[in-house]
Amino acid sequence: MARNAEVKLDEHSLITSKLVKRHSAGSSDTVDADELKERTAQLALVLDLAHQAFARKEPAGSIVERLAGRLHDLRRRAAPAVWQRLIPLAQQHRVAEYLMEDPFTRWSFQKPRGYSGDASLLDIYYKHRSAEGLVALSSPLGREIYAYTSEAASSAAGRERRNILARTVDETARRVKHAEVLAIACGHLREAELSEALSEGKLKRWVGLDQDPVSVGIVNRDLAGTAVEAVEGSVRGILRRAYTLGAFDLVYASGLYDYLPRAVGVRLLQRAMELVKPGGEFLFANFSDEITTDGYMETFMDWPLILRSADDMWDIIKAAVDMNCVEAQVFYGSNRNIVYGKVLKRGC
Ligand SMILES: C[S@@+](CC[C@H](N)C(=O)[O-])C[C@H]1O[C@@H](n2cnc3c(N)ncnc32)[C@H](O)[C@@H]1O
Repeated sequence: MARNAEVKLDEHSLITSKLVKRHSAGSSDTVDADELKERTAQLALVLDLAHQAFARKEPAGSIVERLAGRLHDLRRRAAPAVWQRLIPLAQQHRVAEYLMEDPFTRWSFQKPRGYSGDASLLDIYYKHRSAEGLVALSSPLGREIYAYTSEAASSAAGRERRNILARTVDETARRVKHAEVLAIACGHLREAELSEALSEGKLKRWVGLDQDPVSVGIVNRDLAGTAVEAVEGSVRGILRRAYTLGAFDLVYASGLYDYLPRAVGVRLLQRAMELVKPGGEFLFANFSDEITTDGYMETFMDWPLILRSADDMWDIIKAAVDMNCVEAQVFYGSNRNIVYGKVLKRGC
């Protein structure tokens, strides 16, 4: 299957899928040959069953749901290094031909923007109007699979995250007159379309920063004439304090910590808090280690994420800030597929 060569996110980025994969494999790369043999056989069975079910034209949503559940179990049972060896085997299996008819799976796997988790991929599961054409052009089987993948718990959680971001911006605008907001790794900033504060002209500015110039261009085009302004910039630039951004009542990062190893996440939180005004807050989100689509995402979507628990979020917060100077909160979204950390700057 043709796929764009893997490229770095940008010249300044700290994030590569290799980094994410290294994190997932853990410290040891040793593969137990017996376990590999056993798990390879289990994987082959799971994939063959899915292939046969597609050939029999069983309902596609149930096939993919069953497949995703079995891949999740296999991922959980296998040693991390063994699981890493299974991923390419799954991707090369003939069942992938059926799965690639789903526009969501295909976009994720092919990576037209050159990296995982780009904003257009999110538009597909946000069911944003900009992705409607792509879905409509897909085959009937592709649309049937999409009906499942776009409604899977992790996709529903991603849509809820978008609502939570818009709500948080609106709450900030109620708390502070002429509020200033910064979205780190803003993508297409689709939450802006849901914000009442933005449409009612209550924000002073809503700055979106992203490493992808295409996304930055789309934000500035789609939200022209509002308080939104998108700028090109990377996590690495923020860590180096390379930008003069000013101070904000709300800083948030959504769809970013899922790619950040702990050390980078801690440093980013520290820098973000420097950009938060006293009384302001930093919000960050992370897909949780309770998701059950992880096996499907890592194989057929080639979309590895660093999954975190509430304890992991607390660990990052406590490592980054003096807890006497902040009020912090960690909470899950409604289906627990995404976990959020919120840090309010009280000042010391
Ligand atoms: C999963 S999308 C999230 C988009 C948006 N925040 C949302 O929640 O819909 C991830 C975004 O992070 C951006 N990104 C990834 N690595 C980055 C980095 N090192 N610096 C800045 N942006 C980055 C990507 O360009 C992409 O737009």
